Amino acid sequence: MENKISVIVGTQWGDEGKGKITDLLARDVDFVVRFQGGNNAGHTLKVDGQIHKLHLIPSGILHSHTTCVLGTGMVIDPKTLCEEIEALEKKGFINNNLLISEKAHVIMPYHIAMDEALTGHQGKLAAGSTKKGIAPVCADKMYRHGIRIIDLIEPEIFKEKLAKAYKFNADILEKVFDIELDISEEEVFELYTNYAEKIKKFVDDTDLTLYNIQKEGKKILFEGAQGFSLDVDHGIYPHTTSTNTVAGNIHIGGGRHWNESKKVIGVVKAYVSRVGISPFPTELTCEVGDKLREIGQEFGTTTGRSRRIGWLDLVQLRKAIRINGITEIALTKLDILGGFDTISVCTVYDIDNKLVKTTPASLIKFRNAKPIYATFDCWDKTTPEHIKNFLDKGYDALPVKMKAYIEFIEESLDCPISIVSLGPARSETLIRKI
Ligand code: GDP
Ligand code: IMO
Ligand code: MG
Repeated sequence: MENKISVIVGTQWGDEGKGKITDLLARDVDFVVRFQGGNNAGHTLKVDGQIHKLHLIPSGILHSHTTCVLGTGMVIDPKTLCEEIEALEKKGFINNNLLISEKAHVIMPYHIAMDEALTGHQGKLAAGSTKKGIAPVCADKMYRHGIRIIDLIEPEIFKEKLAKAYKFNADILEKVFDIELDISEEEVFELYTNYAEKIKKFVDDTDLTLYNIQKEGKKILFEGAQGFSLDVDHGIYPHTTSTNTVAGNIHIGGGRHWNESKKVIGVVKAYVSRVGISPFPTELTCEVGDKLREIGQEFGTTTGRSRRIGWLDLVQLRKAIRINGITEIALTKLDILGGFDTISVCTVYDIDNKLVKTTPASLIKFRNAKPIYATFDCWDKTTPEHIKNFLDKGYDALPVKMKAYIEFIEESLDCPISIVSLGPARSETLIRKI
């Protein structure tokens, strides 16, 4: 039976190329839904030579037939949202095809100030956050004095809630961190009421809408943000984000049970990148890492920070596949790896002289994890002519050494690789029959 529900998730530390794969697959679906995270995400699409960078709006927005949904599980900074809507409207991409969940939580100026203060306070145990206010907005949600999108368009309740939340956050900032907020409660009220004016036409009971359109047989694609090792429960805590990035969260962040069979596509970058703080067993702090960063243009879409680079880590991927229920893999950035002497893949960790196949919960053990590598001969550097030839002729035309790398990953993970990405553009992609 054909799957009506597909989910795309990152399997590493984010920036695997989820945006590119979502944009590609969005052509065959009716709805694309972000179900968690906020503008800590940065998804880059390249279509017809144009680059589009998205932080909140799902990567299906370039397709006019696709409705994009900012789901209930998201945390939304309305300033970024208004800017993104305006930029896309100017390019002609938003025409009655955007919906925002009334239940998504709102990032407030005090969350951003608190994020900055927390990172300093947590020091070595911080994740090196994007400073977009993610941890504080999630904390306020759990304290239950968070502000939701619906509140912004109901001034009376907004005022009532803001009074509580503003005071709580301003007091912590002042009394714990000695920081004075540079915006008053009244100014926040006015600013956010203005944002509400701009976005209210998109606000919807998206959970009900998704229920209804699915009953009509429409196809839905969920777009993940961040990556598996950043999941607050399953990732390398506390070096994580504050939301659940895994596919199971579509049930909560998408607003209903999705009790039907689904395709779960795990996006795997052919090597690993990491922005922020945490132990990173396969990190390359040498010339090879620098070269990969340069060729792969590994600089954050959201913060512009240099991404740390490492070899592929099968220990991380095995767990990502298990917890997400990944049914197939999209392998990206293979074009970047060509031309190196050899390529390594971590198959298992050595932790205190024991071979370990899954990432440990113990931070001490994770800090001590040493990668054990399998090493491969590398294929020649790929030129645009090579890529064109591969795209014209298909998977069989790929260099033998590249296919050996792909098939080793596939066999080691016992999961088929159905998409091979050979460049940032939508067109630079091979779909394999699996
Ligand atoms: P996301 O957060 O997972 O959507 O990934 P980002 O967009 O932050 O980072 C991935 C970067 O790699 C973007 O600049 C993409 O345009 C680019 N990209 C995606 N797939 C490929 C690929 O196969 N090859 C190359 N060279 N670039 C790619
Ligand atoms: P996309 O969707 C890469 C990282 C931050 C930090 C940690 C916590 O583009 O893959 P946060 O601001 O969420 O509290 O930061 O998570 N991080 C990401 N790294 N890609 C992302 O998103 C990320 N979103 C958060 O660098 O280590
Ligand atoms: Mg990104």
